[in-house]
Amino acid sequence: MDALGKLYTSTTIVTVNLDGKLNGITVAWVTRVSWQPPMVAVSIGKTRYSRELLDKADSFAVCILGKGAREIAEYFGTVSGRTTDKFKKYPYMMSEGNLPVPEGTIAYLECEKTGSFEAGDHRVYVGTIRRQKVLKDEEPLIFGEHKLK
Ligand SMILES: Cc1cc2nc3c(=O)[nH]c(=O)nc-3n(C[C@H](O)[C@H](O)[C@H](O)COP(=O)(O)O)c2cc1C
Repeated sequence: MDALGKLYTSTTIVTVNLDGKLNGITVAWVTRVSWQPPMVAVSIGKTRYSRELLDKADSFAVCILGKGAREIAEYFGTVSGRTTDKFKKYPYMMSEGNLPVPEGTIAYLECEKTGSFEAGDHRVYVGTIRRQKVLKDEEPLIFGEHKLK
């Protein structure tokens, strides 16, 4: 039995728009870190293409996926934006802050990147929430025990 597997989280797609280059990455390692101002943190593997983009970006969106979004979570979580435009495969909308929000999102947080630091083989990006929106009253897609639930 793996103790870390018992740490359940919502499944998200973290998106960026770097001078018109859109990308999104499935991220389960996400958490709230401050109440006032409202802030979140996402942990991104150092080898991911998204890590390169997030290093340069000033903002990102945390798109919280609904129970029905398993397929899109797997797609954004296995294909790399380094070689593929992931937003070509699924419909999406642009947020007020000009960040892509993919189909399957039930709520999203538009964040200003306010910090980042290394954590082992990942880099943690901290965002201050500037805008947030609920799109659908649906249960979130959960990641726990190393699988989607
Ligand atoms: C359910 C699920 C959760 C994931 N969670 C994370 C995560 O928290 N951090 C991370 O760096 N990669 C995570 N991944 C892996 C990335 O989403 C995957 O490597 C992705 O293809 C990287 O895309 P990119 O190269 O366009 O950045 C997860 C994948 C899946 C399927």
